[in-house]
Amino acid sequence: MNLKYRKTVIAGNWKMNNNLTATKEFADAIKPKLGRHKWCDVVLCVPYVNIPGAVKAFKDAHLAIGAENCHYEDHGAFTGEVTADMLRDVGARYVILGHSERRQYYNETDFAVNKKIKAALNVGLKTIVCVGESLEQREYGVTEELIAYQVKAALTGLDDSAMRHVIIAYEPIWAIGTGKTATAEQAGEVCAHIRFTVRKMYGARVARALTIQYGGSMNAKNAAELLAQPDIDGGLIGGASLKPDDFAAIIAAANQ
Ligand code: 13P
Repeated sequence: MNLKYRKTVIAGNWKMNNNLTATKEFADAIKPKLGRHKWCDVVLCVPYVNIPGAVKAFKDAHLAIGAENCHYEDHGAFTGEVTADMLRDVGARYVILGHSERRQYYNETDFAVNKKIKAALNVGLKTIVCVGESLEQREYGVTEELIAYQVKAALTGLDDSAMRHVIIAYEPIWAIGTGKTATAEQAGEVCAHIRFTVRKMYGARVARALTIQYGGSMNAKNAAELLAQPDIDGGLIGGASLKPDDFAAIIAAANQ
C-alpha cells in the first residue's frame, strides 16, 4: 500500500453465492464489525438480483455495492444480459470486469473486456479490471508479457481522466479458490509490473495514483503481508468475503 498516492480498496466478489436472505444476514453480521476504516474503501460485489437488496441492507454503512459483470451495449436484443446503466440505476457503484472465470467459462475476450470497461465508465461505474496468468503460463515464464498484454488490451482507448475510475486486480488463476496464495513477493512483483506497464502508457502521475489489488486465496491470515507490498493497494476476495469475520479482519488489516 502507499497511502500517500492512492486509495486502498478491499472488495469482496461473492460470485454465484448468497441469496437475498443470506445477503441480509451477512449485512447484519458484518456491520457492527466494520468500524470507520478510514484508510480504505470497501466494496461488495454481489449477484445482479441481490444488488438492490444489498444496497438497502448496507445503506447506513461505509461500504459500496458492486456487480460482477455487465454487457458492453447500452440496450438491445441480448437475452439474459444486463447493461451498465441498469446496474448504476439500482445502486451499484462498481463492477468487476474480465474476471478469469468469465474469460474461461463464457469466452470473454480482451476485446470484449475493453468494450465493457468503456460502457461501465460511461455511466459512472468504477471498474475493477481483472488480469492474471494460468499455472501453465507462469511455468512457461510468460507471466509479465501476458499481464502487460492484458492490461494494454483492457485499457485501450481510455484517457487519463477515465483512469481515475479504474482499479486493476491481479488474480493469478492458479491461486483462485485453491488455497494456494501467491507469495507476497510474487504478487508484489507482478503488481509492480502492472504499474510499470501503466506508467509506459499514461506516465508517472496516472501510474502512481492507480489502485492495484491482489486476488487469489487472500484471507484474514495472509492479508497483512500481501498488503505490506508497496504495489498492492487492496484485495479482491472471493471465499473469505463470504464470511463476515474473515472479511472484517481483512478490512482491519488494510487499516493498520
Ligand atoms: P478466492 O479468494 O476464493 O480465491 O477468489 C478470488 C477471486 O476470484 C476474487 O475475484
